[in-house]
Amino acid sequence: MSVGRLAVVGATGAVGEIMLRTLERRGFDAGEIVPFASARSAGSELPGYGTIQPLDEETIQGFDLALFSAGGSTSREWAPRFAAAGAIVIDNSSAFRMDPDVPLVVAEVNPEAIDRAPKGIVANPNCTTMVVMLPAKALHDAFGLTEMVATSFQAAGGAGRKGIDELAEQIPVVGAELDLLIDDGHSAARKYEASVHANTLAYNVVPLLGTVGDNGYTDEEMKLQNESRKILGIPELRMSPTCVRVPVMVGHAVEVRARFERPADLGAALAALEAFPNLVVEPAPTPLEWAGRDDTAVGRVRADLGDERALNFFVVGDNLLKGAALNTVQLAELAVARGLVGAAA
Ligand code: A2P
Repeated sequence: MSVGRLAVVGATGAVGEIMLRTLERRGFDAGEIVPFASARSAGSELPGYGTIQPLDEETIQGFDLALFSAGGSTSREWAPRFAAAGAIVIDNSSAFRMDPDVPLVVAEVNPEAIDRAPKGIVANPNCTTMVVMLPAKALHDAFGLTEMVATSFQAAGGAGRKGIDELAEQIPVVGAELDLLIDDGHSAARKYEASVHANTLAYNVVPLLGTVGDNGYTDEEMKLQNESRKILGIPELRMSPTCVRVPVMVGHAVEVRARFERPADLGAALAALEAFPNLVVEPAPTPLEWAGRDDTAVGRVRADLGDERALNFFVVGDNLLKGAALNTVQLAELAVARGLVGAAA
């Protein structure tokens, strides 16, 4: 089935641009693709897609599908309006992910969840949660997952274009004096006033990402727990999440210790991971080498040293592709294939 009109909201952003390229690359069959962005960009031309539209009651009429990546507040305000006007919305923000009437879907993990979308809105998971879900599901099916200790190494691009730009600007400034990096890191770090990331990211590692809640965990860490439980359908899954920003442009990595109901044989684990769709097993995948790739990579798969029911692994995925734009487009394809789009019309 082909789709009539498709809106991309946030078309000028880091994820929005890749959504447009991904739709093209995968040959998504849409009659028209209409770009939307903020009032700052509306009216200017997006080469290949025409004039960028502002969000208002008139411009949002007559769409079959709307893919959103313009931040939570834009989604909260405009996703329900697009849905009320007849579109199925695939939303990349955190606005609706934990809403019980909004499915939270990873295309390879819980595609059937998309069938129940009473609000006409489908949520795309957080980019860090996303990369963990593929190996977690493969191993859950094999051994019954009960617990994960997950420590992320998240790229600057997880904070959008501004996150990438801030790191790129810092690198020459902070790195200008090698002696300072060695002898007086505090002064080196203070050569740049960070505003997007919580501290100077160049030549550094920043163990704070998002807002700290009453329990000491950040909202980013709580997403890893809450979204994993919802996607995997394991409400009692025990999680110990730690989210860390590293000076990588694109590509999130996560080290996971996973524990299971049953003993986890290493050979059986590797076989389950290798058989899982769009997941590849590599000895030691790195985010730099994985930037720009569709597949998620898992490596360093090891039996735990002290617990036969636990495994350790390192998973890497492109946070803008599988972590955001690619899964959004896969969900749009799924919504068409499973009849959601026609039903809304
Ligand atoms: P604009 O380029 O006009 O600011 P990123 O995550 O890379 O920062 O991108 C955010 C995307 O969301 C951009 O396309 C941005 O458009 C868009 N955006 C930001 N605020 C709004 C808004 N209030 N209404 C519509 N689009 C918005």
